[in-house]
Amino acid sequence: MKGKLITFEGIDGSGKTTIVNILGKMIENSVITYEPTNTWLGKSVKKAMDEGKDAMTIALLFLADRNEHIKEIKKWLDEGKIVLCDRYIDSTIAYQIEHLKKRIKNPERWIKNIHEPFLLKPDLTFLFVLPVNVAIKRIGNRKKTIFEKKEFLERVQENYIKIAENEKDRFVIVDANKSKEDVANECYKKIKRL
Ligand code: TYD
Repeated sequence: MKGKLITFEGIDGSGKTTIVNILGKMIENSVITYEPTNTWLGKSVKKAMDEGKDAMTIALLFLADRNEHIKEIKKWLDEGKIVLCDRYIDSTIAYQIEHLKKRIKNPERWIKNIHEPFLLKPDLTFLFVLPVNVAIKRIGNRKKTIFEKKEFLERVQENYIKIAENEKDRFVIVDANKSKEDVANECYKKIKRL
């Protein structure tokens, strides 16, 4: 595949979406995409969350959405595009570990096993880290998902940091408490190097 897959991760309110949109304008030949996707599969995940469906159901829907999304991503990569993806597998690991831990013994293993036949590994992943209080403030009054609670997001962010520490080659940890210009420039430089 000729292109590159770059993923952006972090808790809600970390500013990923803003930065991805800035980078999309800065980088020639890029495509912006995100998960959950805006297809009926992605929308079904959001519906399941809104309706408070079982954690396992929600996890399986995220994975089904990703399986289809990866087919699109592969097409872009074959065309030589720089794919900027707002949330990907690390979101599932960081969030669903917390959500599934009362339901199954080793949620991380379970998630990785299901991904095994279809996952496409990112070339580079940015993890946006910031104080959870700042993230919550940024989320403000917009409609909150079932995950957007302080204690939950604290644990999700800890999970993210653990994942990044175990895969230092793939991850770049970014201080997301800086101005969006600074964060975007830092990411841009790393992408250029790639
Ligand atoms: P989010 O990126 O916030 O979507 P939007 O900007 O359209 O609201 O994603 C919605 C929520 O889903 C967010 O709290 C993170 C969570 N999530 C998971 O729990 N697992 C996943 O695999 C993904 C992609 C997202």
